[in-house]
Amino acid sequence: MFIIWCLVMSIIGGTFTLDNGLARTPPMGWLAWERFRCNTDCKNDPDNCISDQLFRTMTDLVVDEGYADVGYEYVNIDDCWMEKDRAPNGDILPDRQRFPYGLKSLSDYIHSKGLKFGIYGDYGNYTCAGYPGVLGYMGNDAASFAAWDVDYVKLDGCYANPHEMDQGYPEFGFHLNRTGRQMIYSCSWPVYQIYAGIKPNFTAIIHHCNLWRNYDDIQDSWSSLESIIDYYGNNQDNIVPNAGPGHWNDPDMLIIGNFGLSYEQSKTQMALWAILAAPLLMSVDLRTIRPEYKAILQNRKIIAVDQDPLGIQGRRIYKHKGIEIWARPITPIYQSYYSYAIAFLNRRTDGTPSDVSVTLKELGLQYPGGYRVEDLYEDVDYGVLSPETKIKVKVNPSGIVILRCDIQRVNSFVSRARYTEFSPLHEVFNVRQNSFK
Ligand SMILES: *[C@@H]1O[C@H](CO)[C@@H](O)[C@H](O)[C@H]1NC(C)=O
Ligand SMILES: *[C@@H]1O[C@H](CO)[C@@H](O)[C@H](O)[C@H]1NC(C)=O
Ligand SMILES: *[C@@H]1O[C@H](CO)[C@@H](O)[C@H](O)[C@H]1NC(C)=O
Repeated sequence: MFIIWCLVMSIIGGTFTLDNGLARTPPMGWLAWERFRCNTDCKNDPDNCISDQLFRTMTDLVVDEGYADVGYEYVNIDDCWMEKDRAPNGDILPDRQRFPYGLKSLSDYIHSKGLKFGIYGDYGNYTCAGYPGVLGYMGNDAASFAAWDVDYVKLDGCYANPHEMDQGYPEFGFHLNRTGRQMIYSCSWPVYQIYAGIKPNFTAIIHHCNLWRNYDDIQDSWSSLESIIDYYGNNQDNIVPNAGPGHWNDPDMLIIGNFGLSYEQSKTQMALWAILAAPLLMSVDLRTIRPEYKAILQNRKIIAVDQDPLGIQGRRIYKHKGIEIWARPITPIYQSYYSYAIAFLNRRTDGTPSDVSVTLKELGLQYPGGYRVEDLYEDVDYGVLSPETKIKVKVNPSGIVILRCDIQRVNSFVSRARYTEFSPLHEVFNVRQNSFK
């Protein structure tokens, strides 16, 4: 292990971001876990078990139902795809019953539809569900993934020592790189360290991973979503600066269209994930999703915010009496002025919509030439507003209003913008909330 580690460091030491050219914007796709879990019972539940058939069906739907057209690209397996035992030569094997044609065949199918293929492993002795982990077999598993033409690898962190992750995650990344196949590398490195009371070294994590999980797995409930929103808001000073093209914070899957979120709450997740520059990985049954939830997932204007080329993660700039305002700097930019996506979130439970009124200037949008303001869910174009204009939005309980404020001059400096130039917006400004008595 030590010799491999020295080799790893001599080859990858000295580079400062994961130089695989991938994930220049947050990855978009479909991921099995939140909705389909570790259902391996293909005998009694053939339509919902983790199987070749499930992934081929979802691949078809991603294309036929228009998700691919708006940017969803990866079809990702999560845990529970493996045989419990490795082959005699140490190779990892897909479950023979549930993946009877092997993973190269599934991968070929996904690629034949113009999509990309993601897979799951675990930096530890076992995956979270008890299947074989990569410890001791890193070279084998990276080689198997490459042989199956995998495009995206999520490496979980169960049954592992979080103190060893500073070595182990880069080591597996080294083996991925050595295959010569470009694969997005998704790490669970910081979240397991945080759980273990270790302060993650984000300098190293950014060097070695395209995305990483900071916090709990999402569950199918508004309280789970709220806890994630609070975690990212409360810890934003440590989290936001780590995001940028090629390296993203991952607040976990989109659960829109499942059982736990209302329509308003679903709009909230989509808009906030766009503000957070989050990967958009749907975990939902695309066979049965209702049209209004599909429309949220396919909202091109909100996806454009998520995929903004500057890659600056947004932040919570206001929180008072259940009203939050979140802002993300986006293109176009002019001189030192950014455009912004602004989201007004209502966490109140008093059952009636809240009015929030504020000037653009109070939100930190100061460009004298003004901004073209558009609502990204409702078909409302506010026209061009000066920084002094007061805007008023009505926000439903547990719902959100998201506006796009585009600066009125387009210029050629976009590629020179860096997230480090972003100074936090004013933390305190004057918001009048008419319904607060
Ligand atoms: C492997 O790493 C090198 C150095 O960072 C990089 O230039 C190359 O593109 C990487 N290759 C793959 C396949 O990721
Ligand atoms: C993994 O298994 C090996 C061999 O049994 C053992 O020595 C090691 O402590 C285990 N590692 C973890 C993190 O459990
Ligand atoms: C964090 O990682 C970087 C890059 O690998 C390294 O240079 C630095 O010494 C590490 N910092 C700490 C506190 O370990």
